[in-house]
Amino acid sequence: MKKLVVLSGAGMSAESGLRTFREMGGLWEEYDVYEVASPGGWQKDRELVLRFYNERRKQLLEAEPNAGHLGLVELEKFFEVWIVTQNIDDLHERAGSSRILHLHGEIRKARSTADPSLVYDIEGWKLEEGDLCEKGSQLRPHVVWFGETLPEAPLAAALDLSENCDLFLVIGTSSMVQPAASLPRYALRSKIFTIEVNPEPTQISEIANEYIQSNSGIALPKLLEEMKKYL
Ligand code: APR
Repeated sequence: MKKLVVLSGAGMSAESGLRTFREMGGLWEEYDVYEVASPGGWQKDRELVLRFYNERRKQLLEAEPNAGHLGLVELEKFFEVWIVTQNIDDLHERAGSSRILHLHGEIRKARSTADPSLVYDIEGWKLEEGDLCEKGSQLRPHVVWFGETLPEAPLAAALDLSENCDLFLVIGTSSMVQPAASLPRYALRSKIFTIEVNPEPTQISEIANEYIQSNSGIALPKLLEEMKKYL
């Protein structure tokens, strides 16, 4: 089976009701990213950081995968689909996708502040001060904050996949955050046909082989219908 790599960003989950970061009304308009999503912010005010992620987690539990997520699951009939996501939500998992690499962590998990190898599932939506790992240290959200390095294994796999696949889709990302923003460029450099889906043009739109200016919840079911003609 041919290999399809999908790089997804916050726009993928927008139609599930989750806010993106950099658009008008996005999260980084309301919150100071350094206050709620950086090691410095955590040192300064843990309570604020925990509250920010608790709110995101609560909304996620009320959200459902949308037609875009489901379309990517259906694409597994045609391709070996690998999803490389910047999203910390679990909507690709809940939709039923088989191969998912999280570059920026997972909000429904907590990690020990003393030993990063200790990672736990969070029951419900609350992670609070006083929630400790088995070694007695405070737990933090298992996400990558600004100024932190990405987890090595998924990043290495994503780099390799981007240069070694048959088709590359970039969906719902502003392509402003590295290193994820470089992955479509690696694919293009390797002569891999690259399609972008985004209602707003980005720096990738001009260089992609095809730019579909549309919401992912509309574009993916359409793309799927096109492919079914070749079944
Ligand atoms: N379908 C597809 N794309 C959409 C939709 C939609 N329905 N709605 C919005 N978009 C697009 C926007 O046009 C925008 O280009 O999604 C993109 C969202 O961009 P960002 O908010 O910057 O999100 P993302 O690119 O995922 O951000 C990367 O930045 O702060 C961080 O860690 C956070 O993982 C995140 C990273």
